[in-house]
Parts: sequence; C-alpha cells; structure tokens
Amino acid sequence: MTTGSVPNSGSDASSDDGLLPSVPLLAIDRQNGPLREQFRMVIDEVCDSGRFVLGPDVTALENELAEALDVPRVIGCASGSDALLLALMAFDLKPGDEVILPSYTFFATASAVTRLGGVPVFADICPDTFLIDPEDVARRITPRTRALMPVHLFGQTADMDALRPLAEQAGLPIIEDAAQSILSTWHGRCSGGLGDVACFSFYPTKNLGGFGDGGFVSTTRDDLADSLRKLRVHGMEPRYYHDLIGINSRLDSLQAAVLRVKLPHLDAWTTNREQNAARYTDLFTRCGLTDVIGLPAADPRGRHVWNQYVIRVADGKRDALRAHLSSAGVGTEIYYPVPLHQQACFSYLGRNAGDLPVTEQAAAETLALPIFPELEPAEQQTVVGRIAQFFGRSPTPPDIARADKGSDAVAAPRQLSRTGLIGSADDVRC
Ligand SMILES: Cc1ncc(COP(=O)(O)O)c(C=O)c1O
Repeated sequence: MTTGSVPNSGSDASSDDGLLPSVPLLAIDRQNGPLREQFRMVIDEVCDSGRFVLGPDVTALENELAEALDVPRVIGCASGSDALLLALMAFDLKPGDEVILPSYTFFATASAVTRLGGVPVFADICPDTFLIDPEDVARRITPRTRALMPVHLFGQTADMDALRPLAEQAGLPIIEDAAQSILSTWHGRCSGGLGDVACFSFYPTKNLGGFGDGGFVSTTRDDLADSLRKLRVHGMEPRYYHDLIGINSRLDSLQAAVLRVKLPHLDAWTTNREQNAARYTDLFTRCGLTDVIGLPAADPRGRHVWNQYVIRVADGKRDALRAHLSSAGVGTEIYYPVPLHQQACFSYLGRNAGDLPVTEQAAAETLALPIFPELEPAEQQTVVGRIAQFFGRSPTPPDIARADKGSDAVAAPRQLSRTGLIGSADDVRC
C-alpha cells in the first residue's frame, strides 16, 4: 500500500498520439488502496492480540483457503519456495532421487529439489501453453524418479489428463507447483487438489499477494498433512519433542490477517484478469498484429487465472520491442530469460544448449505484459498501440479510431496511480 496517489483526469493522461504516457506492469496500490481501512483494522487486532506467529488468523486463513479451493487440508508456511521444500521433505526425498520438472519455471521449483540433494530432471514444455510436456516427462521417468512436479505456469494448469496416468503407472506422487495459479481449475477442480500435494505463494505479485513473503501447501492426503504441519515447526510435536527434522517455516499472523481481507475478492479479481486477457486478444487481433506476435493459448479444459499474459515475439525482435515499450513507459518483464537447465549453478547436471529446444525458444521470445485486475481498457489500448507502433502499424484499431472519443473503449483511466513507486517495470520480480 502506498500513499500519495494522484487522481488522473482523462484530459491530461493522453499524449499526442492518443495513447497514455505510461502503463505499469503491476499497480498493487490500486488493489490495496480501497481496502486500507480494513487492513488497518485487522493489523491493529493482531497487534493487540500479541500473537504474531501462526495463531488464530493463520488457522482461519487455512480453513478459508481449503473451502475456496475445495481441498481437504491447507498448511500455511513462510513462502512458496518453502512450500516446495516442505512438500519434498514430506515425501522424504533423499540424495540422488530424481524429480521431473520443467526447466521453464522460477528457480525455486528446482532449488527445492537440490536443497535436499535430489536431482532435478528438466523436461521440455508445450509450445502453445508453456506448460510441461507430458510426452517428454514420460521419456524421462527412470527407476530413480521419486516425483513429478508440474508447474501451473502463468496461471494455467498443466495437462493433468496426461500427467496423472503417467504418475499412476509409475507409482509416483504429483507435487503441483501452483505458486502462480491460485483458483485455476482443471475440469472444474481447483489446482491444489489435482495431485498429492500442491505449493502456493503469497508473494506480492501473485494473484493473492500479501504484504511480504508467505505461502501454503495443500494436500488431498491426511498422512501428508500431519507431516507437513510438523515439518514447518522443526518437526516438533508436542513442544520440544521431535520425531522428524523439520525447518522453521511459519506463516506470520499479520500476513494471514491481511490475506483474509483479500481472499473474498480473489474470484472477482480473477474475473477481471480473464476479461483483460480477452480484451488483449481482441485488440491484438483487430490491430492486425497476430502475424508478428504470438498470443497466449488457454486450454479449454481449465480456468486460466492469468497471473501473467505472455506474448511471443519471433525473429529476434523481443528485446528491441521491450526497449521500445520501456521508453514509452510501458512496464514488461521476461519470464524467464535463462531456462534453469542453462543456469550456471546447475551446470554440474551436464545439460547443454539445444537439449530443450521448445524451452530455449520460449526464453528467447516471451514477453509479459501488464494484466493486473485493475488495469484499465485505455491502458491496454496503449500497450497494444505501442506494440503496433513498433511494428510500423497504426496504434489504433480501425473501429476504435472511428468511435466516439467518450466511449469506454478509449476513455482514459479514471484513477491511475502516479506514485511511480510500485509497479514500474523495474520494481516487479518473481
Ligand atoms: C512457479 C513458482 N514457484 C515457486 C515460487 C516461489 O514462491 P515464493 O517467492 O513465495 O518463495 C514462485 C514465485 O516466486 C513461482 O513463480
């Protein structure tokens, strides 16, 4: 939450070409601002209670998340990275054990495996969804494989129809990395209830973001839930008695209290993200840009919750387009410029350039655009218009150019933050 946002009127928001002077990649203050009084109230309550670690707010949040995701057990912890580590600890991953996961993901997916001495076995992705390719997973299963760890990247669930039979045949558990995909579904079931264990993040850029680090694990298995609850508190149960070696990974009461204020809004915010994604697709199509950029695909078998809207820019033009957008004040990010199998710290695994061609091509071509729930139509039109300018096209779709200037489609945002502190391209990382 920031202070000092200056309301922005339509008349001073547009530059000569009819587009806005800037669009942030993420503007968390727009989401938090209207909830400020509720945040203050619950923070005061936690301060007064003197309970700062776990406690009643964490228990209540766990129950509310279990209901929202329709999963039997939820265990809060200190981050999404710890959620992954705890999940692997619950399966007692041993040195040398292999875990199959995508190379095209955030670092934490793989480092959780290596922290325990395990071996990340990187699989390639599907070119249209950026999600782990089940056929490549099948090729990489060996007698040393201990788990499959699909990542529901950018807000979309991996192909569970193909992955679940593979896991069942090989007798392997599925650990979902759902850090980016809270409320995404597969055939109507939420991620978090699609495998044995799932790992979520409350990092501020996530669809349900806290005021700092936080995360949780969900599980469909009671035996794992009991271990996970112990593992997050040093394996301790009862106090000062340890039959497991765990870690300190507890969710703070303040985070839980803040997240409980936000959770009831998550579904509506997700719907806004879906609408924004549809609007981009419409604008890109009407601007005639689909021959120069690739639009993200949503698998009809699930609900895509659009943590990121990621386009492809071919022919080596991605970085130049990003520089053009940056100079026009449009925030973007590259998720992820270097696939994990090519990271220096994993060179000991012996994987080389060319090993995962679809992943490597994605790393060279992808660009994430602003997609946050409070993004205004005029901001999306600006993003698309700036991209059109880069490709030497008209920045305005023909039908919008003809439309009445006062219509919703071209109206400037009613209230845009001008703090510049949150949401500029350089501030947002995950
Ligand atoms: C796919 C993925 N896995 C794991 C994590 C780790 O979560 P955290 O940052 O909460 O540790 C993140 C996010 O940062 C992520 O995007």
